Amino acid sequence: MVDANNQLSGNKGIHRTLLNRKNVAVVVPGMLALCCVILCPCFYWKRKETTTVVLAKDPDSVGSLTTRKSKSATKKTPGSPLREKPNPRFSSPPRLTKVGSIHINLDQVVKITRNFSPSMVIGEGEFGTVYKAQLEDGRFIAIKRANKEHFERVKALLSSEADLLAKIDHRCLVKLLGYLDEGSECLIMTEYISNGTLREHLDGIRNGILEFKNRLEIAIDVAHGLTYLHIYSEKQIIHRDVNSSNILLTDSMRAKVADFGFATLGTTSDSDKSHVSTKVKGTLGYIDPVYMKTLQLTTKSDVYSFGILLLEIITGRRPLEQNKSDHERVTLRWLFKKFDEGNVEELVDPMMKEVVDREILVRIFILAFQCAAPEWSERPDMKIVGEQLWAIRMDYLNTVK
Ligand SMILES: *[C@@H]1O[C@H](CO)[C@@H](O)[C@H](O)[C@H]1NC(C)=O
Ligand SMILES: *[C@@H]1O[C@H](CO)[C@@H](O)[C@H](O)[C@H]1NC(C)=O
Ligand SMILES: *[C@@H]1O[C@H](CO)[C@@H](O)[C@H](O)[C@H]1NC(C)=O
Repeated sequence: MVDANNQLSGNKGIHRTLLNRKNVAVVVPGMLALCCVILCPCFYWKRKETTTVVLAKDPDSVGSLTTRKSKSATKKTPGSPLREKPNPRFSSPPRLTKVGSIHINLDQVVKITRNFSPSMVIGEGEFGTVYKAQLEDGRFIAIKRANKEHFERVKALLSSEADLLAKIDHRCLVKLLGYLDEGSECLIMTEYISNGTLREHLDGIRNGILEFKNRLEIAIDVAHGLTYLHIYSEKQIIHRDVNSSNILLTDSMRAKVADFGFATLGTTSDSDKSHVSTKVKGTLGYIDPVYMKTLQLTTKSDVYSFGILLLEIITGRRPLEQNKSDHERVTLRWLFKKFDEGNVEELVDPMMKEVVDREILVRIFILAFQCAAPEWSERPDMKIVGEQLWAIRMDYLNTVK
């Protein structure tokens, strides 16, 4: 039977429980309960207004580590004493300006999009349209244009996205290049990332199938991007909509987190306090059940979504597989059951031909299950997750030598 105290006590990590077979029964009911929460229709889940992904290009992704280092450190506003110092591995402090690095007026935008020609459209959503355009210097950019129907609402959304993006500068996060609010137009411009979304690659609709090494590196990039948002950006940012189509891939198969339309400022890194929101936002299947239940938001909600994403990266399965039978429909529940039964190799994305060392797979699954644990206290911080993935990657590279 379920020992409720045991289940709820913060330090009973899912990791330890997983490794300790006799305790497995304690976790399974928790997972089942969690899955019921995911599916429970009584929580009002609001579909996101922005349904299109910003595609942006990464001209300097390979050399960006060194590029970033050379940027001068501008002044850093002291945050809460609890916030961590900027880590040199994670970018320079952001400049707090809403206008990004390109200066472009409406006439020029009209020109480079050929008056918002349909031939330049790369995405469309409820909020408006995304165009791909080329600057005079040759760079490609993505331009999100608020549609006219719900203009004021969409403008507020884009404006808040631009405000947040202006505060961040990291190799693993899509970069804001400009924001324009003029008369009846509201536009947000970001770098254009050429290689589509992670989900497209998992679906095999881009050239080639992601190799295991790519998958690990993508997961690490996302973990680094989220770590930056959670602890190194000037103000703590919670993304709230980490999913596989909001992760964009560059030519060199590095990942960038995009779509900050729902992102919100956290209070401080003081984990006792949490942001209280009025409406649950995010993508069904990735939303933290604790957030759904309590409307309280912390960085641990992004950790949950990341855990779901990590399972998706390794297995290729969507968080909710609508067309599968009942017991397979909720991927987290199904994977957990299979994993518990010891079937690890067969859970790996069948499109991937490479046979990966079982121990490596086990470690990734355990990490993902920890991230998606029912309680906040059981989920590791993104920084720890990134470090663990990095260690797993090193050991993986040793196994293939
Ligand atoms: C990710 O989120 C966006 C915006 O909310 C949505 O349009 C998209 O369908 C989601 N992707 C997946 C794979 O669920
Ligand atoms: C995208 O990634 C694939 C590898 O999956 C690569 O072959 C291709 O050249 C990349 N670029 C584009 C533009 O598709
Ligand atoms: C699910 O099944 C429906 C009808 O058979 C099909 O149109 C749809 O594409 C399927 N969805 C997925 C994700 O496979």
